[in-house]
Amino acid sequence: MTIRSTAPGKLILLGEHAVVYGHPCIITAVSQAIHAEVAVNNTSEDLVIAPQVAKTDFIDELVKYMKKKYNIQQGIRIETHADFSDKTGLGSSSAATVVACKGINALFNLGLSQKEMFDICFETVVMVQGSGSGADIAAAVFEGTVYYQNKGEIIEPLDYSSLQLVIGNTLHKASTREYIQKVAKLREEKPQFVDSIFKEIAELVHQGRKHLKEKNYQEFGNIVNENQLLLHKLEVSSDKLDNMIDAAREVGALGAKLSGAGGGDNMFAVVTSDTKKSVEEAIEKAGGK
Ligand code: MEV
Repeated sequence: MTIRSTAPGKLILLGEHAVVYGHPCIITAVSQAIHAEVAVNNTSEDLVIAPQVAKTDFIDELVKYMKKKYNIQQGIRIETHADFSDKTGLGSSSAATVVACKGINALFNLGLSQKEMFDICFETVVMVQGSGSGADIAAAVFEGTVYYQNKGEIIEPLDYSSLQLVIGNTLHKASTREYIQKVAKLREEKPQFVDSIFKEIAELVHQGRKHLKEKNYQEFGNIVNENQLLLHKLEVSSDKLDNMIDAAREVGALGAKLSGAGGGDNMFAVVTSDTKKSVEEAIEKAGGK
């Protein structure tokens, strides 16, 4: 028997970096996903074929962890295919971990809840990566938009399906770990300054959630812009990101900000049906994709 499982990539809408310190964020799954075929291997060894992720260590660790936890004796074969690569900053490591977990859960009839799968994947990612809020795992497990806080203490699925976004990729892969460390260093040097920014970001997350609920995308766009200003103060934006963000705003985006750790990867713009095309063009003109 072969199980086919899927886990989507993610986009943080509001609250990155602050979420690493226990504050809330809003994160959404995107339609690009990692897919896996999971089966019992014909030898007792495990076999992981995942060319889209830089290293298979997340999946390797997850397989080891789940086999031990659920006393699985057989070898497991996992082969992944992806709609996006680890160069795009959409959370390929977390999505790869989650897709494997979903597949093993189904293959061995473990009956795990979404929260149980989240906990297993979060533990695995922390073990391999040593840092991270777990928000991208929540998006990959719950597969929608979620309000997320404090290592998964709060994971609240939200329905914001009418929000229209354009994602712009800088074509520059940044290291999440490096940018998490950069913020940690700044916090060591200026604890009050950084903690007050985190508090402001948390407040924006609360306001943004309310505007999204009311489908007030104009106000949501303003919140997105304010969040970008604070990320700038944390020194995690880049010239390329700034250029793409400015370009999107100039042609009528309701708001635009970087998404994720910063330094490269992605930005997004809040658009309407009327502005979507011109925002896409402006982002490409600014060198993004
Ligand atoms: C990275 O996509 C987002 C950060 O907040 C790190 C994390 O949440 O693990 C910078």
